[in-house]
Amino acid sequence: MGRMLPERLADLPTPCLVLDLDRLERNLERMAARCRKLGVRLRPHFKTHKCVEIARLQLAAGAEGLTVATLEEAAVLQEAGIDDLTWAFPVIPPRMDEIETLAGRGSLQLVVDSTAGLEALAARGVPFRVWLEVDPGYHRSGLEATDPLLVELARRLSSHATLRFEGLLTHEGQTYHTPGREQILAAANQGRDQLLDAARRLRQQGLEVPALSLGSTPGMSVVEDLDGIDEARPGNYALYDFTQVALGSCTTAECAVTVVSSVISSSSAHAVCDAGALALSKDPGPGWRAGPAFGEVFADYDAARLDPDLRLTALSQEHGFLSRPCPVGTPLRILPNHSCLTVACWDEFLVVRGDRIVDSWTIHRRRGPTWTGPGSG
Ligand SMILES: Cc1ncc(COP(=O)(O)O)c(C=O)c1O
Repeated sequence: MGRMLPERLADLPTPCLVLDLDRLERNLERMAARCRKLGVRLRPHFKTHKCVEIARLQLAAGAEGLTVATLEEAAVLQEAGIDDLTWAFPVIPPRMDEIETLAGRGSLQLVVDSTAGLEALAARGVPFRVWLEVDPGYHRSGLEATDPLLVELARRLSSHATLRFEGLLTHEGQTYHTPGREQILAAANQGRDQLLDAARRLRQQGLEVPALSLGSTPGMSVVEDLDGIDEARPGNYALYDFTQVALGSCTTAECAVTVVSSVISSSSAHAVCDAGALALSKDPGPGWRAGPAFGEVFADYDAARLDPDLRLTALSQEHGFLSRPCPVGTPLRILPNHSCLTVACWDEFLVVRGDRIVDSWTIHRRRGPTWTGPGSG
């Protein structure tokens, strides 16, 4: 059911996902300039937008390659001719066939934090570029700087016949835990220092550590000193969202993605709009806020002003509950809590400059392998 794109934002059917190109371009330029100033290469994370057009803009703004979260993202970028990629995720042992195929097609750098991960790669007997993941204090994946396994894995990689040691990589996700510039700076410095400490320990053992890579949007928004670090991998900064506003990484004037929605029902207590969990995701937003809210609403988008008492208070699959009554038909421009998860709900961005619709860009959100064989049709 293809439709001609209308010329103006006000004429769009709802719900839809809108990308503000002016804001996006400014965000890409600002982070590229920050990385140049801090003396690190920029390898933005594709998982935020999953959009080849945005990846190309990031490369044009000075990025030296892309980071991906899934093998599907790597395949999409390779097909688009972008093949300097890091899959910043511990390798998945049951997917070694696909890993080998993708790594054979372009420069795909891989990550391990375990003996089993390293051995799964070694068992293939083909060349792989491998990073070791360090836990920066976020305690998700990665080895602590003091873990003897880190030295052992680095030693095995350094002298391996087919695996090449690329360096140490981390994601300082603890920068999301507390709002405020000083608190984020402390968390970012902690992550950086854990990475530097891990490298120092390996170097003390006579091991060469070719490069150090880190990255988070809050951290990269405030960090002042990245001496000794080679590469940064922020992702969310391209679009930002309400969580980043609440943290203090950006302002509402920098948020580049909104869900455009309409009020479809209203009672004396609340209203309902056509943006539910499959339009916004159920991300509850900043963890330190009293009670979850699932999206803020702009009172005036151009003035970057949020409505102080209108927000999404609950979501069902396609319905969004609003905090106060509103006339049916009222247009809403919703600022998502977490743009990466919101974008992954949609198949395309409607791209606007001001109130003019200039394009539509595909969001490559496929998950899992593409199957062929009996029954695949
Ligand atoms: C491994 C890794 N690197 C980089 C990033 C980018 O972080 P952000 O989205 O805060 O920019 C993430 C985000 O989750 C990540 O998991």
